[in-house]
Amino acid sequence: MFIKKFKKCEIFAFITFILSVTVFIWFSLLCGMQGTFHWHKEGLLIYLIFFILLFSPVALSIINHFKPNKFTHNFLIIISTLGLIFYCTLFLTLSILSSVKINRNGLDILDINNPLPVSEIKQTDEAENLIAHYAFTSDPHWGSSTSNAEARKQILKQIDFNNYDCLFLLGDISEVGIIPGIYKKAVNDIQENLKHTKLRAIPGNHDALINGLPLFKSTFMNKSDTFYFRMDNGTIHFIFLNILWDTAEFSKKQEKWLINQLESIPQEDTVIVISHCYITGSGFYDVLAQRSWGDIPDVINRLCPILEKYNVDLSLSGHNHFFEYLEKENVSYAVLGTMGGKLDENLTYSSPYSKWINNEVFGWLDLKIYDSHLDLTFYEKSGIELYRTQIKTK
Ligand SMILES: [Fe+2]
Repeated sequence: MFIKKFKKCEIFAFITFILSVTVFIWFSLLCGMQGTFHWHKEGLLIYLIFFILLFSPVALSIINHFKPNKFTHNFLIIISTLGLIFYCTLFLTLSILSSVKINRNGLDILDINNPLPVSEIKQTDEAENLIAHYAFTSDPHWGSSTSNAEARKQILKQIDFNNYDCLFLLGDISEVGIIPGIYKKAVNDIQENLKHTKLRAIPGNHDALINGLPLFKSTFMNKSDTFYFRMDNGTIHFIFLNILWDTAEFSKKQEKWLINQLESIPQEDTVIVISHCYITGSGFYDVLAQRSWGDIPDVINRLCPILEKYNVDLSLSGHNHFFEYLEKENVSYAVLGTMGGKLDENLTYSSPYSKWINNEVFGWLDLKIYDSHLDLTFYEKSGIELYRTQIKTK
């Protein structure tokens, strides 16, 4: 009986509103969306348009209900239809694109359910205590017109040649994660240039754009993988966090999980925390975002005390496009966004914890793990050594 009080166009507007709200909430809760708006205020304008389109059918329905005429009736039908088409198209497009399957045959994806791969016994005395030998790099940004394709290929070739136990790629593989063609190109390049090395990739903020994580997962991860996880082998522990932009993605649940992991690891063991977003680092001031891409207060305040309390040895990340090595209290940090994404210029902010920085060349980090120390060597893309340091782990 109640429904009979409403005209057909008003019922149609109500259905549009319910469907639109559902898609709007789904869209708003996509991983990385909140962080995107922290750093791209212009995105909020688009969000405002979404919002107006969302409530327009309801507002027009009320007007039409109490002051019905031909104009309000037709306008309500047009706006409701447009809203319905827009939100259905948004949902279907983002869902279909993120479910495309990319042929990743030939990629040797490291299984996170297995122990961390470690080095076989080496023949030389010098290397006899070496436990593991890894390469780390980040931010290749396939699909960006300003990225350096040659640098990407050269780095992959060098890493493959050096016989590492694994390459860890710390995100921003794609410039826009939802576009399947970009991952296809990335996979092709990796297949061609990394033929003998295991790979474990984690997503960055660009990979998450927009609803890009399902596509990232089906391309570079295994079905049961989670976005934050831990890998171990004996006294070596790698903890991978899902921090894309800043603390927007570092939920209380993830924080609790991190603390639980660290509490379960003996203090004398080697612990390396790995994430896309850096925990400390230099940077530049982003006028549009009105924030600094360096030493993000929320990230430092929430992550550093935990890492320091539990004697984490090293934090490795990307996000900023340069090399940097830092030391804060008892923890060392390296920023490695140097795999091809346009290098950051005009670094107006220098972190007080910075020990070495280079924003002029592309390259990767060579990490050797020994029982009592870590050797970090930063290489330029052609294999020229840039900087070397050692961290005592006991
Ligand atoms: Fe990046």
